[in-house]
Amino acid sequence: MTPPMPRYVSEYYEALRGLEQQGARTEGALRVAFHTLLAEAGKSRGLTVLGEQTVQLANKKQIRFDGELKDQYKIRRGVWEAKDSGDDLDAEIARKIAAGYPTKNILFENTRRAVLIQNGERVLDVPMADRASLQRLLDAFLDYTEPLIEEFHRAVATFRQEIPQLAQGLTEIIAREKRENAKFLAALEGFLALCRASLNPQTSLAAVEDMLKQHLLTERIFRSVFNNPDFVRRNAIARELEKVVAALTSRSFSRPAFTARLDYFYRAIEETARTIDDYSEKQGFLHAVYEQFFQGYSTDTADTHGIVYTPAPIVRWMVASVEQVLQQEFSLSLNERGVQVLDPCVGTGTFILELLAQLSPSALAQKYAHELHCNEVLLLPYYIAAQNIEHEFFERTGEYHPFEGICFADTLDMGAHRQLNIFAPENTERIHRQEAAPIFVILGNPPYNVGQSNENDNNKNRAYPGVDKRIQQTYVKGSRATLNAQLYDMYVRFFRWATDRLHNGDGIVCFVSNNSFLHQFTFDGMRKELLKEFTRIYTLDLGGNIRKNPKLSGTTPD
Ligand SMILES: C[S@@+](CC[C@H](N)C(=O)[O-])C[C@H]1O[C@@H](n2cnc3c(N)ncnc32)[C@H](O)[C@@H]1O
Repeated sequence: MTPPMPRYVSEYYEALRGLEQQGARTEGALRVAFHTLLAEAGKSRGLTVLGEQTVQLANKKQIRFDGELKDQYKIRRGVWEAKDSGDDLDAEIARKIAAGYPTKNILFENTRRAVLIQNGERVLDVPMADRASLQRLLDAFLDYTEPLIEEFHRAVATFRQEIPQLAQGLTEIIAREKRENAKFLAALEGFLALCRASLNPQTSLAAVEDMLKQHLLTERIFRSVFNNPDFVRRNAIARELEKVVAALTSRSFSRPAFTARLDYFYRAIEETARTIDDYSEKQGFLHAVYEQFFQGYSTDTADTHGIVYTPAPIVRWMVASVEQVLQQEFSLSLNERGVQVLDPCVGTGTFILELLAQLSPSALAQKYAHELHCNEVLLLPYYIAAQNIEHEFFERTGEYHPFEGICFADTLDMGAHRQLNIFAPENTERIHRQEAAPIFVILGNPPYNVGQSNENDNNKNRAYPGVDKRIQQTYVKGSRATLNAQLYDMYVRFFRWATDRLHNGDGIVCFVSNNSFLHQFTFDGMRKELLKEFTRIYTLDLGGNIRKNPKLSGTTPD
């Protein structure tokens, strides 16, 4: 007996009939039906269909797909092209292939006929009105997996499972070396002192050991995926950590022998990365690796710091909105000399990358060298952001220049340690340069969390005396609420800090954040202050509140 046809197939035919009865003939009008069909059929395979995607080919030419299939690691698994019902499908296929459309797994259809090309060969050419043929087409298209990608999926799953064990192995090695290797202990304590002076006076030895472990476990990814063999030499913080690693390995611990256990995973990442020629796709893929790392390594770290990247459409919209407001309110533009921008919680760099992409070629060099700034407090995202931004500039100009606008620093603490060495002379210099910069736009996605969901957790957020005092003097003072713990949420602190960072001058603060400050009683004082401090406030309420829906954070495992 043949299995029953899934519901989405009949629904597709129904939707198509409905559209045709309305007189729809063009691909634009008809393709919604096939999009829905693909989306439904892809769901159970963990695939998502993204409509209207522009990608850049290796020769820099841009092409636009009607739809592409992405897996959970943001890897493209197939491309779909819709044509008008009256189009000559063969002529259209020839035109697209000549334009450079990838032929690994591409489906062309005009609602009458569909052609599936895999690895450059036509593997199916079917009448779409025939249900069984349509089902065969969908199965072949959606189930296509390159062996390399299959291998990669297996490797990521293994990696996530193995990371806790490998980290535990390193914990034991570190404990042994602390006992038996005086040189290492001195280097570790030196680094701890640096962290306490530079990032957080409450930094624990365990937190420093964590950084060391993260560095050891991921450094090769940065060298190879970004094709930047000089990463460790070029990055000031990586250089400092390498000194500790040198002490750690000065006795019996062999770094190559230890990381050899990760060879399988690294090789799969490297091989997969090599097959991805579109850099933005490579970034999506790195985001996924990064999330997997943190989820496997430490959900606590992911939770306290709000480790989650900002979706590209939101970033694009916010950068475009800043440009519009600059023009309307200040007759300025992001391209204008002197308009300095700061992302205070840069994560993997998405906002700065989008800014670079939107800047005009004539403004690019000046902005990159002097007018874009950002901070990150965690090692891994800091490494990723630095590499992403430098790579984007290289892509746009063909020149490598280190991005001096990024600081490894705690934004909410900026200005608290003016005289100190903040990790490395280069980082200290950058921080001082940022502090002196007349920032006009503050843009980003601050972390949101008022503490921990479990009060017994010991990774609560630290106190920030400077910002907290300003919150007390303003948002708390102006409030009629008696309970005000929520006013010390990280995202509120970032609003307070950013407003003060404009030094009572002109400027823009543009954040994507929790929406509690818009409606909740506790935030009445904050709303009053914001109305006093800004001449115009634009809000777009997407209905997001992390405490009402924890899965919004993206870090809470499903
Ligand atoms: C929501 S994420 C930002 C995501 C970023 N826009 C992206 O797409 O990758 C918040 C980031 O801020 C960082 N962060 C949290 N507190 C910080 C602080 N006090 N100073 C600097 N960075 C901080 C976190 O480590 C995290 O990477």
